[in-house]
Amino acid sequence: MDFSNKVVVITGASSGIGEASAIEFSKRKSSVVLVARRKENLVSVAKNLTKYGNEVLVCQCDVSEWQEVEQMSRTVLDKFGKIDVLVNNAGFAIYGSVLELKVEEIESQMETNYFGMVYAIKAFLPSKRSFSCRKFWPSRHCIVLRIKICYAWILRGFVSRIKRNWYRYYCS
Ligand SMILES: NC(=O)c1ccc[n+]([C@@H]2O[C@H](COP(=O)([O-])OP(=O)(O)OC[C@H]3O[C@@H](n4cnc5c(N)ncnc54)[C@H](OP(=O)(O)O)[C@@H]3O)[C@@H](O)[C@H]2O)c1
Repeated sequence: MDFSNKVVVITGASSGIGEASAIEFSKRKSSVVLVARRKENLVSVAKNLTKYGNEVLVCQCDVSEWQEVEQMSRTVLDKFGKIDVLVNNAGFAIYGSVLELKVEEIESQMETNYFGMVYAIKAFLPSKRSFSCRKFWPSRHCIVLRIKICYAWILRGFVSRIKRNWYRYYCS
């Protein structure tokens, strides 16, 4: 697929898989939006991307906070006028059995890993006239949803709801 001149928003871009994705999209001539909480890390990732010559936008944002995600989406759409790919990557793992984990830890993981994903989709969806979903890597022009095994089923329900509503709003 040709990613040149696409606008790619990557959550969790301050390290790890998100940072690596930003490099790969930059090599493919996309404009990338780097989203995460640690601004200094984002700025450092952005500096490393300048050598590819594409536009890079840093957005400090906690994806578990709806207002911050909404503001981030407005900033992106104001600057680029569109989004082509959303890589919902922000998240973290906590290890331990349900018995051992505190309720606050479980809630905090859901707030970032699940609601962060839902908020980003909700914020950008009105700007899209068509969309498709891929588990890990897009095979065509699309919104990418990160689906971890434990979230796959609840997310499947969410996505099928979006598809039904999509038809009602845009195709009828
Ligand atoms: N590595 C693996 O083997 C593996 C396996 C399965 C799933 N995953 C999942 O893949 C994703 C990336 O993993 P990784 O290994 O690259 O982890 P990582 O290096 O720890 O990166 C996680 C990224 O998510 C961001 N993040 C966390 N909470 C956030 C929040 N509330 N708002 C915005 N950004 C947030 C972090 O940035 P800030 O701290 O700057 O906000 C960071 O950029 C994670 O969701 C992880 O659970 C990873």
